[in-house]
Amino acid sequence: MSSTTSPELTQFAEDVLRGLSDSPKHLSSRYFYDDEGSRLFRQIMKLPEYYLTRAELKIFNEQTDAICDAFTGDANGLVLIELGAGDGSKTAVLIQHLVGRGIDFTYSPIDISQEANNTLAAKFHERFPQLTITPHTGDYLKVLGSLKNGNGTRKVVLFLGSNIGNFLRDDAVAFFRYLRSVLGHNDRLFIGFDMQKDPRVILNAYDDKQGITAAFNLNLLRRINRELGADFDLSKWSHYAQYRPTECAARSFLISREKQIVTIDALNRAFSFEQWEPIFMEISQKYTLAMIDELAAESGFEIENEFFDEENFYVDSFWRPV
Ligand code: AVI
Repeated sequence: MSSTTSPELTQFAEDVLRGLSDSPKHLSSRYFYDDEGSRLFRQIMKLPEYYLTRAELKIFNEQTDAICDAFTGDANGLVLIELGAGDGSKTAVLIQHLVGRGIDFTYSPIDISQEANNTLAAKFHERFPQLTITPHTGDYLKVLGSLKNGNGTRKVVLFLGSNIGNFLRDDAVAFFRYLRSVLGHNDRLFIGFDMQKDPRVILNAYDDKQGITAAFNLNLLRRINRELGADFDLSKWSHYAQYRPTECAARSFLISREKQIVTIDALNRAFSFEQWEPIFMEISQKYTLAMIDELAAESGFEIENEFFDEENFYVDSFWRPV
């Protein structure tokens, strides 16, 4: 599809233009996930340094009963709505358990990618033939808005994998407030947060020895080359990760190794970079319990339950609208 006919590409082009015209320059990590980016992220999740996925999976495996009890509560029906489900492998643990308990529920994954939704639905249909699956393709917020007026069945919205960590704080509050506006009193939110811990453990997770995280970041430049007709030379860029314990924030940057000019045809623009100039690529926010409490309170929720792994590396927090 050409860059002028795809609305997604137009938004992409606009965001790239805004980010590279700003000072300091930035790009949005929401664009990391083209096919190659998604493949690299699957590799990241298996890295020895990337503890997040394993910690959340352990919570699901070891506290399945308690989590499923929280989900069902005393509600009659249940819809599990998962935002950005990916391959659904962690959620499958919970689904398996709910199916095993004979609970009648619907699983509704929401993903921007039709292909990801189709693959997930096919996989889950095969594995859980009796499960009702209603995938929705599109932007989370738009799809959630359309689900606003349910039939009284409890909705539990899952936002796993510490995806919230990739939002700046104001955006996270705006996102949760929006969720609050579309959820009823009996609905719930189940969110994965990566906790503050030894800064070295966190830094290593974003600066792995095999260089997969570096490739994941650089892949966005490749995507800009391909989709927007740019001429980024990837050999002139290097990945740099930092963790600031005072802010509980990991950030990644691509650093221009030399003074250079990059042209982007779709924008009809050239951008110059100084030697060692950074492009800010991604924030991966970590949390203290106090930060999670505050986020919930500021966005109209209170914490009903929290599920930790045994090292307190990670928490899945269960929120009730106030
Ligand atoms: C998807 N998200 C929660 C990941 C994270 O940990 O921030 C993305 C990622 N970036 C580098 N490694 C993983």
